[in-house]
Amino acid sequence: MSEKWTIGDAPDTAGRVAVVTGANSGLGFWTAKGLVFRGAAVVMACRDTPKAQEVARTILAELPDADLHVLRLDLADLSSVREFAEAFRQRFDRLDLLINNAGVMACPRRETADGFELQFGVNHLGHFALTGLLFPEIASRPDSRVVTVTSGAHNVGNIRFDDLHSRRRYDRWAAYAQSKLANLLFTFELQRRVQQEGLGVLSVAAHPGYAATNLQRSGPLMERPPGWGGAMEMLVSFANRTLAQSPEMGSLPQLYAALAEDVRGGDVIGPAGFMEMSGYPCKVGSSLRSRDEELAKRLWAVSSELTGVRFPFSGERS
Ligand SMILES: NC(=O)c1ccc[n+]([C@@H]2O[C@H](COP(=O)([O-])OP(=O)(O)OC[C@H]3O[C@@H](n4cnc5c(N)ncnc54)[C@H](OP(=O)(O)O)[C@@H]3O)[C@@H](O)[C@H]2O)c1
Repeated sequence: MSEKWTIGDAPDTAGRVAVVTGANSGLGFWTAKGLVFRGAAVVMACRDTPKAQEVARTILAELPDADLHVLRLDLADLSSVREFAEAFRQRFDRLDLLINNAGVMACPRRETADGFELQFGVNHLGHFALTGLLFPEIASRPDSRVVTVTSGAHNVGNIRFDDLHSRRRYDRWAAYAQSKLANLLFTFELQRRVQQEGLGVLSVAAHPGYAATNLQRSGPLMERPPGWGGAMEMLVSFANRTLAQSPEMGSLPQLYAALAEDVRGGDVIGPAGFMEMSGYPCKVGSSLRSRDEELAKRLWAVSSELTGVRFPFSGERS
């Protein structure tokens, strides 16, 4: 592993097809750009297609040969996830790289179209459903990978099975941490299941440390009391300018997870710097709770029940 790995060190990906969720902003944008730069055909899976098309044009202005597509995906609506999978299948017969990147953080309590708490619904359940629906296309490829983006916040996360959707009590940061722990439990359980099936798919997690993106503004600043909102806005701007790394650097762990040759199933890739906040990508650890196999199995069963999505593994087909 190169100590200062960048997209220039990645192998050529010509002929490979990738889907990046949330590719119109922040880390997703740089991930999509990195993948087309290395030659992959990339589907930008975004909820606001005019916005995504505008962003795609900026990539095409720099990389005119980029094989870039925009397809609508709203992870806060399972019918949209199903429509996306159908639309993808009509255009492509395979999927080599699925980057489960989109996310929301610390927003006021909202529900998805299916009545799930928004952060759990978008960050975890939407991606669980998407991966399951696209799994036949993923499993048909040699060396395909599913990369799921988690966060250092998983360290303080807990899966509250007695109130998964925070109906009784909502804490916006606890809900974010729960969703990011769920991302890791899903990554590891998927890896165990593909291994049991004897498939070559790799399930890998990545986290960016702290990168200045729209994430710190969109959720955390919503619906703050007058006065507080302005103060928090200043604090966020200051922290993003002084402490955060660029979104381009922040995207490297997920690009590494998707492309680097020494990646193994179940790896977690994060930045190598102080407290994994910034730096070049390397293999990192994750919390004991994220490695709890019983917890992961239970979350898988509940996620399958809530979304109605069964992966095509023996024992899971409905
Ligand atoms: N930035 C960091 O420091 C940091 C740290 C740890 C983990 N992460 C993780 O990194 C990932 C990317 O976040 P980011 O920092 O790049 O933030 P960002 O700039 O806010 O990008 C988030 C992306 O997710 C999309 N999204 C939100 N809700 C969606 C939905 N319902 N359906 C489809 N797409 C949806 C957004 O679309 P719109 O533009 O339409 O809203 C946007 O494209 C997230 O999973 C986040 O948890 C980031």
